Amino acid sequence: MAHLTRRSLIRGAAGLAGVLSLGSVAACSSDGAVSPAAKAVAQAEAARRRTGASVVRARLTPRRVTLNLGGRVVTTWAYGDSVPGPLLRVTAGDVLRVEVDNQLPAETSVHWHGIALRNDMDGVPGMTQGPISAGGSFRYEFTVPDPGTYFYHPHTGVQLDRGLYGVLVVDDPAEPGGYDDEWVVVLDDWVDGTGRTPDEVLEDLRASTAGGGMNGMGGMDHGSMPGMGPGSMGGMGGMTGEGMQSRLLGGAGDVEYPHYLVNGRTADAPVTLTGKPGQRVRIRFVNAGSDTAFRVALGGHRMTLTHSDGFPVVPVPTDALLVGMGERFDVMVTLADGVFPLVASAEGKKGQGVAVVRTGAGRAPAADVQPRELTRRVLLGSDLKAAADVRLADRSTDREHDLVLGGSMAPYRWTINGETFADAEPLDVGEGERVRLRFVNNTMMFHPMHLHGHTFALRGSGVRKDTVIVRPMQTLEVDLDADNPGQWAAHCHNIYHAETGMMTTLSYRA
Ligand code: C2O
Ligand code: CU
Repeated sequence: MAHLTRRSLIRGAAGLAGVLSLGSVAACSSDGAVSPAAKAVAQAEAARRRTGASVVRARLTPRRVTLNLGGRVVTTWAYGDSVPGPLLRVTAGDVLRVEVDNQLPAETSVHWHGIALRNDMDGVPGMTQGPISAGGSFRYEFTVPDPGTYFYHPHTGVQLDRGLYGVLVVDDPAEPGGYDDEWVVVLDDWVDGTGRTPDEVLEDLRASTAGGGMNGMGGMDHGSMPGMGPGSMGGMGGMTGEGMQSRLLGGAGDVEYPHYLVNGRTADAPVTLTGKPGQRVRIRFVNAGSDTAFRVALGGHRMTLTHSDGFPVVPVPTDALLVGMGERFDVMVTLADGVFPLVASAEGKKGQGVAVVRTGAGRAPAADVQPRELTRRVLLGSDLKAAADVRLADRSTDREHDLVLGGSMAPYRWTINGETFADAEPLDVGEGERVRLRFVNNTMMFHPMHLHGHTFALRGSGVRKDTVIVRPMQTLEVDLDADNPGQWAAHCHNIYHAETGMMTTLSYRA
């Protein structure tokens, strides 16, 4: 209770009341006693909370809507009338309070992807809270500790693959700035309302046992599915065609999507981002897709990559970057004069999303424009180096866990350490430990592996991330400080992989 005492001295009686209420909802068991686990969560939150922190309020209303994606009108589920949902913006240290009013015909939840928040606000039904029932509501309230680019989405079924996502920007009170404008650019692979819902996509993947093709158990090609014609997936191009291969990623996905969106628009009806020649613009890229990595380039420009998953890196110029599902990258560009295509090419798949960058006169680019930057230097998160001030302190490892990634296409199931989530043995850690996680990919597909509540450091480069691409047959190690007690999901951010088993729990001992 050291934190409570210290805070209460600083903040006086009102502050004490505030701190004591922090864990009170989830902290009490039925007999009114506060569990040690809940106490640890409340203490970690109290340590984060600053004197006089401002409270930023927002409301999210997940519901059924009809949306115009530009080239197409669809009925889907979204947070209000647009995709992406409302842009939430706070300054690091603020408290975010979001009322969620669930108007969906189904249970839902909201997860705050990448935020090192209090565990009972992490939005994972069955792990950190109960589901928000249809017609029900829930208040999320937590301190937001770190600046950067984050996003929010449901942690319920495959709802992420509908229109349920939005960006959370956390400003740095000490932002060095140096830019004139900022654009948020959200990438997505889109199927909902085009003949199948994401739930039906999942059903189709599960039903596709034809041929019995196994994936990943010792190097069989992901994608060889004898007997699967392209028409068998609802006439939409099918899944796992031999075409879904990428030089950078190997097996690049399980689902071909009819559309790829940039800020909610199809490539034939793109958004326009306007600026003036010579301006420096910070672009925050977010991949909210469910089964698609995007290769991103801005025609006629080089980009300088400055942040990965919210945390600064040693700035590095590049022509293009590869953004896995759940990853975010910030870049800086100096705008040239004219009209330029900002292209997000679906890696290893057919199709792309486009936005138009306009600083002068000229015709808008075609929907299938391929700027040559796309095939020049392409950076991945693992190519970066951490900025000096966000490197983890040097210390020895107290504990190591392997996460062996496996799976098969028939039956369609994905595993960590040989088990699907329901049967997974939690990875136990103790508060205060330095923990090493070793991702061992034994499949022929890439997996963007995501850990909740922490920003780990890639071993070697030190780059801080919460979501990292693990390539086929690659082993990748990350280190983290176990400083945020609770039960934290660790999973593949391919939503179809996560939903069919590729998830486990990083579990703090109470
Ligand atoms: Cu954005 Cu558990 O994930
Ligand atoms: Cu995966």
